[in-house]
Formats: sequence, structure tokens, C-alpha cells
Amino acid sequence: MTHSPSRRTFLGMSVATVASAPRLSAANERIVVGVMGTGGRGTSLAKTFAERPNVQVAYVCDVDPARVKDAQKAVSAVSKLEPKVVGDFRRILDDKAVDVFVCAACNHWHAPSAILACQAGKHVYVEKPCSHNPREGELLVAAARKADRRVQMGNQRRSYPKIVEAMQALREGVIGRVYFAQSWYTNNRTSIGKGEAGPPPAGLDYELWQGPAPQRAFKSNYLHYNWHWFWHWGNGELGNNGVHMIDLCRWGLGADYPSQVTSAGGRYRYKDDQETPDTHVVSFDFSGGRTITWEGFSCNQIPLKAVEVLFQGETGSLAIIGNGYTVFDPKGKEVKKVPGTSSDAMHVDNLLAAIRSGEKLNSEIEEGHKSTLLCHLGNIAHRTGRTLHCDPANGRVKNDPEALKMWSREYAPGWEPKV
Ligand SMILES: NC(=O)c1ccc[n+]([C@@H]2O[C@H](COP(=O)([O-])OP(=O)(O)OC[C@H]3O[C@@H](n4cnc5c(N)ncnc54)[C@H](O)[C@@H]3O)[C@@H](O)[C@H]2O)c1
Repeated sequence: MTHSPSRRTFLGMSVATVASAPRLSAANERIVVGVMGTGGRGTSLAKTFAERPNVQVAYVCDVDPARVKDAQKAVSAVSKLEPKVVGDFRRILDDKAVDVFVCAACNHWHAPSAILACQAGKHVYVEKPCSHNPREGELLVAAARKADRRVQMGNQRRSYPKIVEAMQALREGVIGRVYFAQSWYTNNRTSIGKGEAGPPPAGLDYELWQGPAPQRAFKSNYLHYNWHWFWHWGNGELGNNGVHMIDLCRWGLGADYPSQVTSAGGRYRYKDDQETPDTHVVSFDFSGGRTITWEGFSCNQIPLKAVEVLFQGETGSLAIIGNGYTVFDPKGKEVKKVPGTSSDAMHVDNLLAAIRSGEKLNSEIEEGHKSTLLCHLGNIAHRTGRTLHCDPANGRVKNDPEALKMWSREYAPGWEPKV
């Protein structure tokens, strides 16, 4: 059986674009949701959506039947209606009653499925990073514009009130002109070992799990979750957790696209199949004298976890700590401390309000793309072993054909995203 979209499916999609485009709902109208990918993240999002007033999660979808059953149970426990279980997300897109498509599958699926969803007339909540490579991000922004759909990336800190307040304070000059944002992520991940070739787990549709990524024979340490550490499907820790912090850095600095990107690091802690670095230091320079750095320690729990992002300005510094913030004077003395609050529901509510009443999205896909692109550029600098020089108008790499080869990817036949 092959899963590539047939010509008929594509033609069907374009007709559906006109026929099934959901209306912007009235303020209290019910919103119908379908969720693709029911690992830890998708199950949690499905539950969060189902708990919102006047929202029905009508579908949960996974290529792994074992996982999707648990998601169905989690949704049923918080809502009156049991969601339908499907293995192919295109059944969600076919249903005209669905307003919102949620993608919490693996990174190689984010943009390809979100683009098809826009073309089927759905609004989209797409997990971070919103793309597997820079070109996909550009196409996703174009697809959202073309179909006039609300597309939100899952960088939920954009909706946390005390982080919003911190960013406002930076803009109002609480530490003067801000010129540097430093961020890091730490974890104590164990080795993924050496994978063994063999058949995929019984019942799992491995061909559809791969979808747009050219098919590779199964190995025991690819899934679940460990696909993050293979370039074919994932984007390493930088695209996994780095994107959250880098997004805050970019927001606080008011920076869009970089002029220069550097990378240092490697897979240092363990010798195994992991391709992406466990120790990674990236830097991004922006016009006007502004720099972002991110340090990723995937396998080394440094004792500095509390501070996620530190901004430095001409008259002090501001640290984002536990989704709140602390302001320091130029001598390092604490002058203000604001505790944080957080919940995924805040970000979900923002998307629902954008659909129902035109509220501005907190993480509109173009902003999500800019932060995701920084991660891709950091990874491309790592893989080429070179400093990248970029066009500050759009982030495109200049004068480096090898780096530009990684601007996109090869696709499995029939799955190339098109807008
Ligand atoms: N915003 C956040 O804070 C946050 C937190 C965790 C994860 N995430 C993101 O969410 C995504 C999922 O993370 P996870 O930890 O649950 O990963 P995971 O690998 O555990 O789960 C992914 C699920 O998607 C399923 N899947 C793959 N292809 C599919 C397809 N074609 N159709 C349906 N299902 C498919 C897999 O079978 C699996 O169950 C990742 O992209 C990750 O970056 C975001």
C-alpha cells in the first residue's frame, strides 16, 4: 500500500479549499478540532483543546494505534463526545466540519501537513519548530496567507502574561537599549545506543510515519521521540527545546533575520547513533549591534537551569526565570521580581479567539518561522562547519552553495509541499 497523495487527492484538496473553508465562527460558536500525532505532546494538546468551552475534539489521529487509544481516552474523560480515531490525517482534512487542525506529529510532518490543512480550509495549531527546513517555513507562511487561515506555532510562552509584560518592559526601556540576549537549555538525556535493523512495531504504519521524508528502513532507536536526533526527521536540541528560548531572545531584542550565524559543539557525551549535537553553542548577530546566543547541554545538567533567558542592556539586565522575570540594575542588584504563570490553555485560547473574533495571534506563523529559521541556520552552520553570512532581509544564506543545499530537503514522491 502506498500513501503518497494521488493526483486525485491533490485535485480533491484544491476543490475542498473552496468548498470546505470554515467560516470565522461567531464569538461563542463551537469550534471543531482534529489532532494529528498523539505522543505526550499531542495527547496533552488534545486534552487542553477539549477542555476549552465550546470546543469539540472530533478526531485524534496517530499511525501508532497503541498511542491513539490513550489519547481518545484522555479526551473522552474531559468531554461529552468521544473523538473518532483515525490513522491517516487526511481523513481530518476531508471533514468539512473540522475548523482547526493540530499537528503534534514529528518535525518532518509539521509544515507538509499544516500546508495541506491550510489548503483544505483549516486553521492550524502547529507544534514547534514549524518546519523541518527553511524552505518549508517560507512555504507555510505563504500557504497561510494564500488561504487566509490563522496559523499559530506552539511556542506557548508568547501567551504567558508575565513574559508578555517582561517584553513590554524591555520595549519601554527598563534596561535601556537591549543589545544581547543569552539563553540555554539543559537536560540529562541518556544514550540512544546503536539501533538494530528489524521490522517496525506491530500495528505501527511506519510508511505513513515517514510520509514526506524519503523512506528509510526501520531501526529500533528511531521512535518514538528519538527521531529528534536524526537530521532526516528532526532538528536536534536546537530545534527541539532551543527554539523556545531563541524565540524569547528574538522577541526581546526586536530582531528578525540575522546577518551572521556561528556554531560550535558536537555529539560529545556518548558515542552512539545520534547525529545531532548534545553540546551546542550557537550565536546570531543582527544589524544594529545585537546578538543572541544559545547553549544546549542535552546530556549535562548544569546548575543554572532557573534562568532561561538573560537580556543585557545599557542600564541593566532582565532575566526570564520560571516564566516570570527579574530586573537588575547595572551593578547586578535586583530591583524588581515578578513571579510567572504558565499554561498551554493560554496559547490555545488565543488561537480560538483569533478564529472567533479576530484577536491578534500571539505567535502568528511568520514570527514562528523567523525563530524556527534561526534554529535551522544554527544547525546548517554546525553541519557545514562554517560561519554563515545571511541576508538580513530574509535570513537567506549568501555565497555558500553547500549551505544552501540544506535550505530544503528531498521529499518522498508525491509529498513535496506546494503552495
Ligand atoms: N510546545 C511544547 O512545549 C512541546 C512539548 C513537547 C513536544 N513538542 C513538539 O510536539 C511534537 C511531538 O512531540 P512528542 O514528544 O509527543 O513526540 P513523539 O515522537 O513522542 O510523538 C509523536 C507522535 O506523532 C505520531 N505520528 C508520526 N507520524 C504521524 C502521522 N503521519 N500521522 C499521525 N501521527 C503521526 C507518532 O506515531 C507519535 O505518536 C514534536 O514536534 C515536538 O517538537 C512541543
